[in-house]
Amino acid sequence: MSPDDLKRQAAATALEQVRDGMKLGLGTGSTAKHFVELLGAKVRAGLNVIGVPTSEVTRADAERCGIPLTTLDEVDRLDITVDGADEIDGALNLVKGGGGALLREKIVAAASDRMIVIADDSKLVETLGRFPLPIEIIPFGLAATRHAIEQAMASCGISGELKLRSGKDGHAFVTDGGHWIIDAHLGRIPDATRLAATLSFIPGVVEHGLFIGLASSAVLASPQGIRIME
Ligand code: 5RP
Repeated sequence: MSPDDLKRQAAATALEQVRDGMKLGLGTGSTAKHFVELLGAKVRAGLNVIGVPTSEVTRADAERCGIPLTTLDEVDRLDITVDGADEIDGALNLVKGGGGALLREKIVAAASDRMIVIADDSKLVETLGRFPLPIEIIPFGLAATRHAIEQAMASCGISGELKLRSGKDGHAFVTDGGHWIIDAHLGRIPDATRLAATLSFIPGVVEHGLFIGLASSAVLASPQGIRIME
């Protein structure tokens, strides 16, 4: 079974939670794309749902699949957001943003009654941090913000290389919000809650990829079957 088969299985399991009339957050990434495709098939068969995409890529995918879309200006709360993750720990804290959509992903997840994370089980880790932590920043004052991030990390007892993410054109990768991303190569984040709070205080940091306390469950697919973490 390929990693892609596992991602689709996780997406199919999350889809079982979707009911007629629900308002859904639609995640970003290769796993979330499976969910959008499977949801689209249900919509074309008559399921009545409405979605809020977490990126322009997901918007395009959802439109192509025929899923009706709305915005968080039109609806107050969402019933469920289904999204992938780069890392998941045993407490359902996440690292997200490998695909660069962390800001909208976090806004949409926070506006949802439930966030279901879908992934193959390679994403489950004992301690977050092996995957470089994406930190979305304002381009203005890059050096000052980088310095402040280093100080924030040091105050949490960690250090690591900070790399400005490049896009396909060799220039800085630009998010849907017009920001840049610094990937922090930390190796291990012993206290993710503390680091999340510390990073949030930095003026040039728009958002970071630590999702603390946002996920309600995770659907993890492995060749041995599906495991639900709650
Ligand atoms: C995008 C994300 C993705 O959910 C994360 O990168 C996982 O992606 P994939 O399902 O392709 O492994 O956070 O910003």
